[in-house]
Amino acid sequence: MSIKRSAFLRNLAFGLSTSFVLAACGGAPTDTADSDDPAAADSAGSEAVTGTLTVATEPAFPPFEFQNEDGELDGFDIDLMTAIGEAAGLEVQFESLPFDGIIPALQAGTVDAAISGMTITEERLQTVDFSRPYVKAGLAIAVKEENTEVATLDDLQDKKIAVQIGTTGAEQAAEIPGAEISTFDSAPLALQELANGNVDAVINDAPVTLDAIASGNIDGLKVVGELLTTEFYGIAMPKGSENVEIVNDALMTMMEDGTYAEIYQEWFGEEPPELPESAF
Ligand code: ARG
Repeated sequence: MSIKRSAFLRNLAFGLSTSFVLAACGGAPTDTADSDDPAAADSAGSEAVTGTLTVATEPAFPPFEFQNEDGELDGFDIDLMTAIGEAAGLEVQFESLPFDGIIPALQAGTVDAAISGMTITEERLQTVDFSRPYVKAGLAIAVKEENTEVATLDDLQDKKIAVQIGTTGAEQAAEIPGAEISTFDSAPLALQELANGNVDAVINDAPVTLDAIASGNIDGLKVVGELLTTEFYGIAMPKGSENVEIVNDALMTMMEDGTYAEIYQEWFGEEPPELPESAF
């Protein structure tokens, strides 16, 4: 699978401006684990959950989460979360949910965590907790290959834009004056709407749009301009969950012992960028 997905990288290198790559190398702090929350040691009692962690995901977001040809969940997030479970001695049970249903499910406590290419935002932090950042990404604009009019956000005024519901891309689109926004349940559906010529642009996470183009899943689209944002993905958990510490400890261990880099290599074909300890 890694071979097929490496198309994502080629595209990154050629297609997009190098800004994603540059962003990925951008000067993140190099502090390591030990400065991490000294209070954590006191709160002890790490044995949350019962041995099984129910983890929500919206699996139409390759290469992070998707259903493979055998109908199984696959992707970077899936491999990472499974490895976190192994490191923490917990069995991970995935549950597919609509993206905009994930935070409500966490709040209601019907799932223990969510890994879904979910950006750590200040707004979401009001209602859920996040693990430390595990991916650096950002939003990008996609248009039809032949479109020469759109290069920046400003060019999208009064245009038709498709987005996935409940995403940071949807929020970004909502701020564009005069834009007519159509929301879809998944990113591929939004991209298909663009390919069909029914909208002028899609605002979506750059790695996912680039993967859709590179894998040939969607034809006739290109990514324009610079990344609109820098975003960090985190694993979301209910506010105050004891699992935050467990997940962070596992992530930390995996970042130090090379397991994280191995999984990253497998999906993105390169060394992971430096990641900050927290998104804000
Ligand atoms: N990173 C964006 C956000 O958090 C989009 C995530 C969409 N994820 C998915 N699995 N569909 O809003």
